[in-house]
Amino acid sequence: MYNEGIKFYRCNTCGNLFLVMVDPAVRPTCCGAEMDMLDSRHHTHEGSEKHLPIIEVNENYISVKVGLQLHPMDAQHRIEWIALTDGTRVEVQKLGLTTPPIAKFSKMSTDGKIHAYAFCNIHGLWESEK
Ligand SMILES: [Fe+2]
Repeated sequence: MYNEGIKFYRCNTCGNLFLVMVDPAVRPTCCGAEMDMLDSRHHTHEGSEKHLPIIEVNENYISVKVGLQLHPMDAQHRIEWIALTDGTRVEVQKLGLTTPPIAKFSKMSTDGKIHAYAFCNIHGLWESEK
């Protein structure tokens, strides 16, 4: 997993999302329990064609779409959010129930790698880089 100090935690009870950016030893709690860190899957994992975030850098913005075949979006199975980071800045876009799994982000530094994350309510966290 990409580690530049950014870790994602999700509450298994209420679905709350926490980002830990400074002290990796901190384990957040929610709904009375310690949260589990989300481990990300990559292009080598089964199901990547529907889950891998695809980063497209445009002149004034960056778009991220989830899946070569767009991931389904309904109440039972959907992408809950998409996040993008350049290592120093993180943007998270929460998706609606019927929104296509595509998000636009403001332009970030492309001096180094940028990383995109997509969270599927069934298949977990997926990560790609550009
Ligand atoms: Fe999925």
